[in-house]
Amino acid sequence: MDDILARGENGTLKRRLRGRDLIGFGVGIIIGTGIFTLAGVEAKTHAGPAVTLSFVIGAVVAALAALCYAELASSVPTAGSAYTYAFATLGEVFAWIIGWDLLLEFALGAAVVSRGWSGYLANLFGLPSQWFGEDATVNVGAVVIIAVLTVVAVTGIKESAWLTNVLVVVKVAVCVLIVAVGVFFIKGANLTPFIPPAQSSGGEGSVLKQPVVQAGLGLEQSVYGFAGVVSAAAIVFFAYTGFEALANLGEETRNPRKDLRVGILGALGICAVLYVAVSIVLTGMIPFTDIDTGAPLASAFDSVGMHWVGALISIGAVTGLTSVMMVELVTIGRIGFAMGRDGLLPKALGTAHPRWGTPHLMTIGGAVVIALLAAFVPISELSDMVSIGALSAMIIVAVAVPVLRKKRPELKRPFTVPFSPVVPIIAALACFYLMLNLDVLTWIRFAVWLALGLVIYFAYGRRHSRLAVTKEPAADPSS
Ligand code: ALA
Repeated sequence: MDDILARGENGTLKRRLRGRDLIGFGVGIIIGTGIFTLAGVEAKTHAGPAVTLSFVIGAVVAALAALCYAELASSVPTAGSAYTYAFATLGEVFAWIIGWDLLLEFALGAAVVSRGWSGYLANLFGLPSQWFGEDATVNVGAVVIIAVLTVVAVTGIKESAWLTNVLVVVKVAVCVLIVAVGVFFIKGANLTPFIPPAQSSGGEGSVLKQPVVQAGLGLEQSVYGFAGVVSAAAIVFFAYTGFEALANLGEETRNPRKDLRVGILGALGICAVLYVAVSIVLTGMIPFTDIDTGAPLASAFDSVGMHWVGALISIGAVTGLTSVMMVELVTIGRIGFAMGRDGLLPKALGTAHPRWGTPHLMTIGGAVVIALLAAFVPISELSDMVSIGALSAMIIVAVAVPVLRKKRPELKRPFTVPFSPVVPIIAALACFYLMLNLDVLTWIRFAVWLALGLVIYFAYGRRHSRLAVTKEPAADPSS
């Protein structure tokens, strides 16, 4: 802990950012495939028009988790992430689990966004559905964009602040355009019933596709109905992920107490309002059963004859989604780099490229995995895994808040979660509840991922970590 704090105090980062800079940055990395693609997919498959309600539920859970992130970010002000907080408060094995979860979240997140990108590119240029979009046999579009951005990430070409701001404006403008034009095409009939009645989906292998909470209670699998709305909420939680990156900037904000709170909650608030408005318009414009899952928003406008709006949306999505993938690729490199430097992953991953100064091995390795997933696995399967990875990391972060208050009451906490430990506990339970609404197969895959992680940790990381090397025998758990 003291080690980590010292690293923060000796840091060379400048405190330049204000609340509104954080809001801009946050909106830039939060808005992505979640609204451009998943909203349509989930309306069609789980929630009907009530996908709007799913976005509201997701926003509340994300806000609770965000408060916990903000406290840890301001009291452990190093340029780390949840991985560093876990290291400081709960110890190495939890740090490993969180790092492992975050790798899952960002790698699969990048795969999801690349497929969304591919769908909108196809819509824009009428590209063959065999290679682009959600019906592709091999999603070549997704693979190509990941390859191109990996080159950018590895050679370290800096995305200028100017470019980031332009991309943010483009994405927000597209959402506003959708709402401003689409509102005139809303038909009440499409929005009623708001929550379509529950239907048994039947089908083979349905237990695996059933939310854990329903399977546990021995209920039949259903789509729509309130259960469908909560399932969709767990999946569209994906749309809010990414705000965690804001918590990394604690060391660079002018006034962490105010700016972090304004930045994180402000960005989430803006995204939530845009998401809700866009979902109302989407599901109001066309019957949810007719939604196109490749490029839902652009196709909705095409179907009412507003082709120019459809084209603008596709252009906005294709440019806007690029920044999300870029941040995700860069983040994977950083997390792997930190884990390699701490000795939890092979040291080579914790070294930078001699010329470009980027964590090239981790970035390229991650990109290969991402490209393979993006080529073959549908968005709906991948986004579930992003949600479960993000939610489980958030539970650890929420638990870490009261633990750190007890262990280190004297730490300066520029931002504090109100009513701790009540709010952190509610945050952890809310995340867990959403996790329970993901399907059995997602849990099994997640368990396999965690098990694999623990095997690597006990076989490799535990023995090679900096902690193990510097504090033989194992670190004193009370320190
Ligand atoms: N929240 C990001 C998105 O919706 C990952 O694409």
